[in-house]
Amino acid sequence: MIETRPTPDIAAAPPADPPATPRPSLPVRATESGAASALPPRVALSARKFNLYYGTNQALRAVSLELPAHSVSAIIGPSGCGKSTLLRSFNRMNDLIPGVRTEGVVQVGDVNVFAPATDVVELRRRVGMVFQRPNPFPKSIFENVAFGLRLLGLRNRGEIEARVERSLLQAALWTEVRDRLERPALQLSGGQQQRLCIARCLAVEPDVVLMDEPASALDPTATARIEELILELKARYTIVVVTHNMQQAARVSDRTAFMLNGELIEIGETRALFTRPGKKLTEDYITGRFG
Ligand SMILES: Nc1ncnc2c1ncn2[C@@H]1O[C@H](COP(=O)(O)OP(=O)(O)OP(=O)(O)O)[C@@H](O)[C@H]1O
Ligand SMILES: [Mg+2]
Repeated sequence: MIETRPTPDIAAAPPADPPATPRPSLPVRATESGAASALPPRVALSARKFNLYYGTNQALRAVSLELPAHSVSAIIGPSGCGKSTLLRSFNRMNDLIPGVRTEGVVQVGDVNVFAPATDVVELRRRVGMVFQRPNPFPKSIFENVAFGLRLLGLRNRGEIEARVERSLLQAALWTEVRDRLERPALQLSGGQQQRLCIARCLAVEPDVVLMDEPASALDPTATARIEELILELKARYTIVVVTHNMQQAARVSDRTAFMLNGELIEIGETRALFTRPGKKLTEDYITGRFG
C-alpha cells in the first residue's frame, strides 16, 4: 500500500492570501463564544452510494453515511476494510494515488468533494489530516507550525507568531515547547511530535480534522494525551478518527462506523453500537470473533 503524506496538500497551497478570500460557508465550526453545543447537530461530512476503485480493485462499496459537526466519529474494522480509503476521500488525498476512480457523492458541508470545480487546495486546508506516524518536517518546532501559514501567504511576523502559539496551545503542546521553539522538531518525543503535527494541521484553521490511527505508534501515556486532546478539540472541530483500538473508539467517539470489505456495515451512537450492535457482523467483530 502506498502511504500518502500530508506534505503535498499543504505544499500545494498557493502563495496567495486566502485568509482574506471569501469562501462558501461550511457549517462545521464552533462560534468564537464556544456555543457549538447550542447549535443543531448539522451534517459536516457525508457520503452517498460512494464507490472507490484502485484500478480494478474496489475498495469502497456503496458507502452512505452522515457525520455530524462538532463531534468525534470513529471508524473501526479489520485491516484492509477501507477505513483509510474512506478517510482520505473526504479531502481527496486519494487523488495522489494513480488509477483511483470514484462513483457517487462525498460532501464536506455543502461542498461536493469530487465535483470538477472543487478547489482541492482549499478543500485540503479545510479538511486537515493527521497520520499514524508523526511526520514533522526537518525544521524547527516554530517553522513546522508556521509552514502552512507561510504557504497561505502570511508574512506578518507578529501574526504568524500569534497563530503558532494559538495552534500549539490548542494542541496541548505550548507549555512544553514555549522555551524551545527554535529547536529541531525531530528532537521531540513521539507523542510531542504527534501533537506538533496536530498543531501544524490546526494552524491553517481547518473545519474538519481527519486522524488515521493517530495514537497507534505511541506509548500509553502519549496515547492518553492524544485522546484527551481529541475530546477538547471537538468543541471547535469536526473530528473523524480511524482506530484499531475499540476501547479507544469507545472512549473518544460519539459515533462509530464499522466497516468490512469496503462496506459500511453499521453506524450509530458509540455506546449503542458497542452494547447493542444492530448487525451480527458488528457483534462478531466487537466481541473479537474475527479481525
Ligand atoms: N495506494 C493504494 N493502491 C492500491 N490499493 C490500495 C491502496 N491503498 C489501499 N489499497 C487497497 O484498498 C483496500 C482498503 O485499504 P485501506 O488502506 O483503506 O484499508 P484500512 O482499513 O485502512 O486498513 P489498515 O487497518 O490495515 O490500515 C485494500 O484492499 C488495500 O489493499
Ligand atoms: Mg488504514
